[in-house]
Amino acid sequence: MELERIQLEIDGPVARVWLNRPDVRNAFDGLTVSELRTTLFNLRTVDAVRVIVLGGRGSSFCAGADLQWMKAMATFGRDDNLREAQALADLFFTVYESPKPIVARVHGAALGGGAGLVAACDIPVAALGTQFGFTEVRLGIIPAVISPYVLRKIGEAAARELFLTGERFEAVKACEIGLVRHAVPEEDLDATVDKRVKELLHAGPRAVAEAKALIREVAWRRVEDVQRYVVEAIADIRVSPEGQEGMHAFLEKRKPDWTR
Ligand code: COA
Repeated sequence: MELERIQLEIDGPVARVWLNRPDVRNAFDGLTVSELRTTLFNLRTVDAVRVIVLGGRGSSFCAGADLQWMKAMATFGRDDNLREAQALADLFFTVYESPKPIVARVHGAALGGGAGLVAACDIPVAALGTQFGFTEVRLGIIPAVISPYVLRKIGEAAARELFLTGERFEAVKACEIGLVRHAVPEEDLDATVDKRVKELLHAGPRAVAEAKALIREVAWRRVEDVQRYVVEAIADIRVSPEGQEGMHAFLEKRKPDWTR
């Protein structure tokens, strides 16, 4: 597929996906949304790829929805608006439930939908100095489609402050509230991302996908309501080829086959 707004680089088990609209700080319009979603969706079936790194070309990670594009939406009917909003929602869901873990490489700015994209990723790493913000209310709109992912990461208390004020905040605060996992000097950003990637590559690929599914199923539910799920999950995976290989490898003091 010919890509205009996204760059994809595959290097062994690592796919690097770049938002590539630096002139508008990687703001996403309809084409960016569909290309990013298709790229991530297609990577599901590329067995050789085990980890995805998502970053932005130019000076910023992502300035959120393209405001020119959103402005133009006023001339569209409600059905068209619903269709475009659904496409955006599908993109975030594709990131959230990607069976391959996604490390976000965040720098410059991650605002509005850009901050939402960060929230939907598994392990966001940010450069100190990155500006974050759920700025929607300052534009007279709301952080609607990103809210499920952001609320899961930062909780209601922080969301009440940040969604309602639309204020900007920096990487250390983003780390404190759980939006990102690491805030490091910009010169250490790539090394920190690479370290996360390396750690992920030690894990069994199926186990990683199942661990993501486990978090999705179990978080926010009553313990008694997830008993059946967790029992079946471990019963199934421990007899799977990957589970057996991992345990055999440990006991035989050798590396499991997925690290070779
Ligand atoms: N949609 C469309 N265009 C955007 C944009 C967006 N979300 N964010 C930035 N741009 C455009 C600017 O209009 C500008 O275009 P121009 O060169 O034609 O004037 C260009 O990108 C560069 O922006 P600029 O503000 O000059 O760059 P900067 O590096 O100083 O600042 C940001 C970058 C991201 C901090 C700043 O552009 C910003 O705050 N953008 C708004 C982000 C926002 O609130 N998004 C929420 C959307 S819901």
